[in-house]
Amino acid sequence: MDIKNAEFVKSSQTVQQFPAPDRPEYAFTGRSNVGKSSLINYLCNRKNLAKTSSTPGKTQLVNHFLINDYWYLVDLPGYGYAKISKKIKQGFAGMIEDYLLNRENLVNIFVLIDSKIPPQDIDLDFIDYLGGHELPFSIVFTKTDKAKRSEFAKNQEAFKNEMNKSWEELPPMFYTSSSKRKGKEELLAYINDCNKLFS
Ligand code: GTP
Ligand code: MG
Repeated sequence: MDIKNAEFVKSSQTVQQFPAPDRPEYAFTGRSNVGKSSLINYLCNRKNLAKTSSTPGKTQLVNHFLINDYWYLVDLPGYGYAKISKKIKQGFAGMIEDYLLNRENLVNIFVLIDSKIPPQDIDLDFIDYLGGHELPFSIVFTKTDKAKRSEFAKNQEAFKNEMNKSWEELPPMFYTSSSKRKGKEELLAYINDCNKLFS
């Protein structure tokens, strides 16, 4: 599958504002600045569909995009950025939680993990949270161009070791670089397969 058509639908803050749950939907989330918006732009062959920024915390609402007139892609706000105020942070967490627990057409959550850094508690906690609510997810390692091969191998190994502590089976994992345009085919093929199962 290639993305031929990507259209911004709307930004929402509450469940009531989301578009009708009548299509398969895939959410992208991860720590702020992990490269979510960049990945979405790369997947969609667009420069500025999702707004990117070197200042963390750019994406502050649940953003729906309609892809190929068939499925929804969602850019979620990043979690865990230390410098935003506690109040805003709680607002973000509430909004993400509201979304995750109430979106019946949500097929898969792509949890983005920065290839360059060792496993972070906040990511592992978030993954545990998804598991605890039986929400389906996959891991997407981002910015693979930035990490040295040995560094990435080490981080990835450590990440898998951490996950093996609480999981019997590891979820699907994808490896991407938006700058070097790598990893799109595998990710979109996975979405395409999931779309076929959606009813
Ligand atoms: P928030 O919306 O603020 O939570 O951030 P985000 O996760 O959407 O990250 P965004 O895509 O805005 O990217 C954050 C920074 O990382 C930007 O400076 C990007 O240019 C950079 N970046 C994103 N993807 C890549 C990548 O694959 N490789 C490299 N080298 N840099 C990247
Ligand atoms: Mg963003």
